[in-house]
Amino acid sequence: MSRSAHPAGPRHADVLPEGHYTAPPTDLNVLDEKVWARTVGRNDDGVVTVGGIEVTRLAEEFGTPAYFLDEADFRARCRAWADAFGKDADVFYAGKAFLSRAVVRWLKEEGLNLDVCSGGELTTALDAGMPADRIAFHGNNKSQEEIERAVEAGVGRIVVDSFQEIVRVAHTAQRLGTRQRVQIRVTVGVEAHTHEFIATAHEDQKFGIPLAGGQAAEAVRRALRLDGIELIGIHSHIGSQIFDTSGFEVAAHRVVRLLAEIRDEHGIELPEIDLGGGLGIAYTSDDDPREPHDIAKALGEIVTRECEAARLRTPRISVEPGRAIVGPTAFTLYEVGTIKPLEGLRTYVSVDGGMSDNIRTALYDAEYSVALVSRTSTAGPMLARVVGKHCESGDIVVKDAFLPADLAPGDLIAVPATGAYCRSMASNYNHALRPPVVAVKDGEARVIVRRETEEDLLRLDVG
Ligand code: LLP
Repeated sequence: MSRSAHPAGPRHADVLPEGHYTAPPTDLNVLDEKVWARTVGRNDDGVVTVGGIEVTRLAEEFGTPAYFLDEADFRARCRAWADAFGKDADVFYAGKAFLSRAVVRWLKEEGLNLDVCSGGELTTALDAGMPADRIAFHGNNKSQEEIERAVEAGVGRIVVDSFQEIVRVAHTAQRLGTRQRVQIRVTVGVEAHTHEFIATAHEDQKFGIPLAGGQAAEAVRRALRLDGIELIGIHSHIGSQIFDTSGFEVAAHRVVRLLAEIRDEHGIELPEIDLGGGLGIAYTSDDDPREPHDIAKALGEIVTRECEAARLRTPRISVEPGRAIVGPTAFTLYEVGTIKPLEGLRTYVSVDGGMSDNIRTALYDAEYSVALVSRTSTAGPMLARVVGKHCESGDIVVKDAFLPADLAPGDLIAVPATGAYCRSMASNYNHALRPPVVAVKDGEARVIVRRETEEDLLRLDVG
C-alpha cells in the first residue's frame, strides 16, 4: 500500500511505483534525531560522527558492514527506564534484542535486570557477572538441561510456559534441594497491533497458557500444589513494536482479574506481575514512540486502578523492554557497491551486507531509514531501494527511501535503529561473515563482538 506518491528524482521517469514512502525530506543531509542514536551528528566537513568519531574513520578501522553502538545512549536509556519505573518496579532488559558480555556489564552497572531465553543467553549473562538473582529465564520449550542450569545458577525467576514445564521445574528444583521462584506466562487473548509474526497474546500461538477456558487458573492450582516451586506471579507479553498502550491495559486488566480469582480460590495474593516488553521505537520519521516515564505512568495507573477495583494489594510490576533500550542506539554502516537505476521504477543500491545482517525487512516487512553519511550532497532526491549482496531477490534492507541522486560506489550509507534484532538474528547465509558490533563512547571505539572470519566458518565445518 502506498502512503503517497511524490515527484520523481532526477534518475526517474514521471510515474513513481507503489511503495512505502512519504515525501522526500527537503534536505537529505539532515539526520532526524528521532531515528539516530543520541551522539550522532555531522561535523563541519559533512561527515557523520558517533561518540565524536567520524564514520569514515570507523569504516577504515573496523571495515563494513558493521554495527556501531552508542554506549552513552544505551546507558542513558537503561537509566531512563530504571528511573521511570522507580524502586517499586523492576526493569528486565530482554537479551534476545542484543546480548554480549559488554552489554551485560552495562546493564549490571546501570541497575537493570536481565531476561534470557536460552542456555546461550544464560551463559553470556553469568559469564559477564550478572548476579543470578537478577536474571529471569524464559522460553516455550526449555530443555531439561537448561532448566537444571537455571535452577542451579539460582536465577531469580523462571517464567514457566506450559503445564509440563511447571512439573519439570518443580521436580528439578526438588531434586536439587531448592525451591525455584516462578511466574506463569499467560496469554490474555489480546490482538496486538503489530506484525502477525511478533504478536504473542492471541490464543492461537505457541506461547503461554491461555486465560481462556480456565487453563491459566488450572496451571496456578497445579503450581501451588508442588513443593519445588514458589509461585510469585503472572507474566504476560503481548507482542513487539507496539505504540499503543491499550493492549497493555487489556492485558493488565485480565491479569489482575486472574490475581483476584487466585485470591478468592486460594486465599493468597501473588506479589508480582510482569507485563513483558514490546514497546515500539522510531525506525522512520513517521514513528512516534512513547517515552519510558509515560509508559511507566500509564502502566502503573492501570495496574493500581484494576487492583483497587478488585480490592487487591498492588503487586510489584516488572517490564521487559529489549528493542526500546538497544534498538535506537546502533546503526549499520555499509559501503555502497553497484548502483542500478531501473527506468520508471527505482534505483537499486547494493551494499556489502544485506539480509544476513538485517533480516527484519524480509521477515516482517520492516521499514527503515537510510542516509548518506560519508559526505553531504546537494543533489536532488532519488527513490532508492537498498539491497544486499545475497542470492535472493527478497534481500532488501531498506525498501523505499530517498538518497541523493549523486550517490556513488564507495560512498558510506548508514541504516539507523538497527540495535535490536539485527546482530542477534544475523545469519551466515551465502557464507556471509557476520559483522562486528563496535561500541563507541567519548571519542573511543572498541569491538565488543568481533567480525566473523572465514576461519570461523571453516572451523565449524568438520566434514
Ligand atoms: N519479553 C518477552 C517474553 C519476549 O518474548 C520479548 C520479545 C520481549 C520481552 C522483548 O520485546 P521487545 O521489547 O524487544 O519488543 N524478532 C522480532 C521481535 C521478536 C520479539 C520476541 N520477544 C523483531 O525483530 O521485531
